[in-house]
Order: sequence, then C-alpha cells, then structure tokens
Amino acid sequence: MVLESLARIVKVQLPAYLKRLPLPESVGGFLRLTVSEWLRLLPFLGVLALLGYLAVRPFLPKKKQQKDSLINLKIQKENPKVVNEINIEDLCLTKAYCRCWRSKTFPVCDGSHNKHNELTGDNVGPLILKKKEV
Ligand code: FES
Repeated sequence: MVLESLARIVKVQLPAYLKRLPLPESVGGFLRLTVSEWLRLLPFLGVLALLGYLAVRPFLPKKKQQKDSLINLKIQKENPKVVNEINIEDLCLTKAYCRCWRSKTFPVCDGSHNKHNELTGDNVGPLILKKKEV
C-alpha cells in the first residue's frame, strides 16, 4: 500500500507537477514571469536550494568549531607556545595557578574563571599548590 502510493507519486504526480511548472528556457525568461508563475515556482526552487545546500554543507568551512576549540584566546598570542616557569622556592608566595587561560595575571589565578564559568556553564578552576607542614 505504501509502496504503491510512493510509486504513484514518483511516476505520475511528480512528473505532472514538474510538467506544469512555468520554467523559462533562458535566464531572461525569469524576468518575464508573472507573480502567479513565481508563486508556483517558489516551492520547487526552495527544494532545489535546500538540496544544493545539503549537498555542499559537508564541504563548508567550520570556523566556529575551530574557534570554540581554542583554549588560549588572548595570552601571549605572539608566541608559538606559552611556557611558564615557577621557581619551587616561590611556591609559598602564590598558591593558585590558572588553568582556564582567562586570568589577567596568568599564570597566577585572578578569579577570572568564575566569570568564565558563569558565562559558559563550564566548571574550571585553579590548580592550588599546598605545602606539607612538617
Ligand atoms: Fe583561571 Fe582562576 S583565573 S583558573
């Protein structure tokens, strides 16, 4: 029953619909179409545009995804790699180190992770180093 209906649509109704479409034979013919002819043509052109978009979409650049994957958005962007050294003797001075890459005092945490977490729903926080008491 379903296949019978599908076959009727593909073999009878679709060709009849396409035959009735006011498709001009030249580009200039589009300029001479009346409003009612354009209205009859619009669904067909919409389907063609959708199929074209779906066919091309896998090949479109995905810049937004690439930008979302960046971790470091602004710290020392002139350097190919950001590396920080901290002397072990200085660890007693600063205990919280940034892991969100949003700190204005990087690599030291300035609490910017709180705003980042609020805006994005993320849950990042600093690395806290503790000295064992002997
Ligand atoms: Fe980045 Fe706190 S500011 S972890």
